[in-house]
Amino acid sequence: MHKHFYAQLDLPPPQNKPFVALNMVASLDGKVTSSGRLDPGSLGSSFDRQTMNMIRSHFDAVLAGGNTIRQHPYYLGVPKELEAGRRERGLAAQPLTVLLTKSGQLDPLGPVFATPPRPPVIITTTKGAKNLPTPIKEVAIVETLGEQPGPQAICQLLWEKHRVSHLLVEGGPSINYQFCQDRYVDQIFFTLAPRLVGASDDLTMIMGPKVLPSANQINLLSLNKHGDELFLRYQINW
Ligand SMILES: NC(=O)c1ccc[n+]([C@@H]2O[C@H](COP(=O)([O-])OP(=O)(O)OC[C@H]3O[C@@H](n4cnc5c(N)ncnc54)[C@H](OP(=O)(O)O)[C@@H]3O)[C@@H](O)[C@H]2O)c1
Repeated sequence: MHKHFYAQLDLPPPQNKPFVALNMVASLDGKVTSSGRLDPGSLGSSFDRQTMNMIRSHFDAVLAGGNTIRQHPYYLGVPKELEAGRRERGLAAQPLTVLLTKSGQLDPLGPVFATPPRPPVIITTTKGAKNLPTPIKEVAIVETLGEQPGPQAICQLLWEKHRVSHLLVEGGPSINYQFCQDRYVDQIFFTLAPRLVGASDDLTMIMGPKVLPSANQINLLSLNKHGDELFLRYQINW
């Protein structure tokens, strides 16, 4: 079997804050959901899923927003066979799962809270912390960051308290928007899947109210093909 093209990833060292990358899959018409969801196989192939795991295997922590985790209430970890490689790179066997919620409305029965390999970190508001169901508070580490936790405060907390030097953000689009709006995204991993969605209600990779600040440069670092799927990696210099 060929070695995966992301088996070795030279991620830049952090500069007093976590290095941040996004990873998303989209259809040819730029949609990251189909009928309002992303289900296994609805956009990316099983190889795209393997690629997601391989990318995760290089990061200290993987972060997702409330809507994404309500749809996919699973620990944002790696399969067992990638744990040895992580240890060799000096990382914990599993990345830390970081969840963002303002409301605190997460399902305590979600598998992410059943038997997580590490206690997930939930970053929330004062109100969200009050609303979080007790069984979740018993297994997770709850971090309260005022009323509007932003990327700067989130990154500072993860850097200082949870020793996260490489953070992978896995959406959804509204979380991606906040990290880009505040210029906290250093790289983007992007899968272009041979699908067409078309529905105007479906989401695109980064969605928010205003045009993003324009980056100085966005450079293509690598381009790989597997079957009919393309795997692109970009560097953003803000
Ligand atoms: N194609 C892909 O690669 C991909 C990847 C990821 C997700 N998706 C899809 O994207 C969709 C979800 O995207 P979305 O944009 O609607 O939602 P999202 O970004 O997953 O989550 C938004 C939610 O995150 C919480 N949140 C947002 N900003 C926050 C902040 N600053 N501090 C604390 N919490 C914050 C809030 O949760 P509360 O509502 O709990 O307050 C908010 O409603 C899903 O269908 C998912 O499957 C696709």
